[in-house]
Amino acid sequence: MKFFVDTANLTEIKEALELGILDGVTTNPSLMAKEGITGEDNVRAHYKAICELVEGDISAEVIATDFNEMIKEGKALADIHENIVVKVPMTVDGIKAIRWFSDHDIRTNCTLVFSAGQAILAAKAGATYLSPFIGRIDDMTWDGVELIAQIADIYTIQGFQTEILAASIRNPLHIVRAAEAGADVCTCPLSAILGLAKHPLTDIGLAKFLEDHKKANS
Ligand code: G3P
Repeated sequence: MKFFVDTANLTEIKEALELGILDGVTTNPSLMAKEGITGEDNVRAHYKAICELVEGDISAEVIATDFNEMIKEGKALADIHENIVVKVPMTVDGIKAIRWFSDHDIRTNCTLVFSAGQAILAAKAGATYLSPFIGRIDDMTWDGVELIAQIADIYTIQGFQTEILAASIRNPLHIVRAAEAGADVCTCPLSAILGLAKHPLTDIGLAKFLEDHKKANS
């Protein structure tokens, strides 16, 4: 399973990179706004900076909702760097755009996915990645990871090549359950990735090893 970090914060991206397990980055308009990145030139420069930091796929989302505008914006994003993956919302115009990008060798990430039906449509249109938002499904008291498992089954049965990118991950358990359910990629906040390393028995065990070593060597 690939690990992406879900942020537009360069410091966080560098920290994730230093772990040596990072395969890519996803961003969205909310994450860009959170970093105060506004205006076309600044947005392009920021994506370029991320691409220069991380050797892997970098999702950059279109703001347009109309097919023709999505194509124009997506082409401009794809021109920034060969590792840019154009993130397109799951709408009827979005599906048409994903088909167009796929036919023109531009890779896509279909975002805002909440159902198996949407997942089938995106795969048929040729999406490179599919982003089901598991945390937001959990927020509605449904089980987001169950959707990942259902999509993984459908994609295997049907032979779809689209990679399942579990998104809206909020905690380490989401990562473990998404891995178990067959996600190809997890895009996570850095805190959720770091949370995977934590266990009180590891801390207790290490403290005891160091204490015994100190006693034996004093
Ligand atoms: O990858 C999509 C993600 O950024 C959305 O996360 O926590 O806002 O639902 P969240």
